[in-house]
Amino acid sequence: TPAAPLDLVIFGGVGDLSVRKLLPALYMAHLHNNLPESTRIHALGRQAWDRAAFLAFIQEKVPGFIGSKAYNDSAWGSFVRRLTYVCVDATDASDYPGLGAELQAGSDRVYYLATAPSLFTAICAHLGGAGLIDARSRVVLEKPLGHDLESARQINIDVGRHFQESQIFRIDHYLGKETVQNLMVLRFGNTIFEPLWRSPYIKSVQITVAEAVGVGSRAGFYDGTGALRDMLQNHLLQLLCIVAMEPPVSLDPDAVRDEKLKVLRSLRPMAIGDVARDTVRGQYSAGASNGDAAVGYLQEENIPPESSTETFVALKAHINNWRWANVPIFLRTGKRMAARQSEIVIEFADLPFTIFGDSPHKSVNRLMIRLQPEEHIQLQMMAKEPGSGMKLRPVNLNLDLEAAFSERRAEAYERLLIDVIKGRLTHFMRRDELEAAWTWVEPIIDGWQQLNEKPKAYTAGSWGPAASSALMAREGSSWVEES
Ligand code: BG6
Repeated sequence: TPAAPLDLVIFGGVGDLSVRKLLPALYMAHLHNNLPESTRIHALGRQAWDRAAFLAFIQEKVPGFIGSKAYNDSAWGSFVRRLTYVCVDATDASDYPGLGAELQAGSDRVYYLATAPSLFTAICAHLGGAGLIDARSRVVLEKPLGHDLESARQINIDVGRHFQESQIFRIDHYLGKETVQNLMVLRFGNTIFEPLWRSPYIKSVQITVAEAVGVGSRAGFYDGTGALRDMLQNHLLQLLCIVAMEPPVSLDPDAVRDEKLKVLRSLRPMAIGDVARDTVRGQYSAGASNGDAAVGYLQEENIPPESSTETFVALKAHINNWRWANVPIFLRTGKRMAARQSEIVIEFADLPFTIFGDSPHKSVNRLMIRLQPEEHIQLQMMAKEPGSGMKLRPVNLNLDLEAAFSERRAEAYERLLIDVIKGRLTHFMRRDELEAAWTWVEPIIDGWQQLNEKPKAYTAGSWGPAASSALMAREGSSWVEES
């Protein structure tokens, strides 16, 4: 039997995420012949537009996010023939039969919920009520997946009334990044690191996701969210899972997700004293970004002048298991930092003793996995400085992944959308993973509330508050920050 046609339905279809990421990603998939022939894409919105108005809107907005090298008029022309616009008020059940009428007979359906999570419950209920969900349907949930444990659970319960777990794709776009997936290959496709990938051969792990941008036009969302919920609860903990997990028995979705879940459940819970000592909240003040003056967070448009939302967080975590006992794990993320730079640094143990006089013996070996903007892996080693005597200096073994492969590197959203279409769940979060991540994060949020301290100011364009370096220094480490 021929494959069923595919309908991809985007709630929030003309919203920010759709314009900046989803439609460009789908265009790229179309351009490279990775969309099944029969794929139709339905962008849903509340504007009472006809097709011409919709096409004019996306023609104006979307190509700028595609990049001039990949964009061409004829591919764009054939791409938009796949698109329809449907005016739907997601909260109004009477709009759904009309949506159903747009879908192809007997099609496979992917519902992408690129809306505020407060709409998830209504959307699933109305899709179900209109008979638009069957056993082959899939739903993609965009973050934020809840505000705390309770709201995340509620989303899981509500969506779970209409979709089986195997039909639910909770997206964390960091899991779609090429280098993040490469981390699995580095660990489990090579033999040399695994014996050393543990305490006491690893002294510390640091994970940084630094952004140069500020809050931008998302004040309304961001001010009620903050860096801990926006970035750490999801992206940084997912990166940590891949760094720290035990070898999964296979690449099956549940095999991988079982191991990630174990990491999340092994995170040492933070008591109030730990929150006070081992976490740093920051908020950017006026400074500079890429050479231009940048206003402070409190001066950004639509941010309440008294806001105490954090735009930076650094913390020290511990994983309570054999592999990671006593290895401090440092996580840090922020907006308006010195550079856009995401990196995982594995710091190997200090030399127990040195025969080279006063040469450095601390942090001599580091594995540095740069996720963005470049994709490379460096191993810092000690080498002898040329000349007489025995003076040592760190040098890097450098694997430039962009130079090593000539193949096109797809963006995270494109790769993940293709996974959804193919029904591959490995790089998506499972229900219990999401809840375990919130379970660990929630006491930090509560602790901050109890401590009731203002976030520490840091100058826009810096690496964050001084307390963040102090956090590392207490463990005899420092953030790796060269660009
Ligand atoms: C999103 C956050 O999930 O990730 C944004 O909501 C952030 O605040 C973005 O800017 C960063 O993603 P990337 O892929 O640019 O590193």
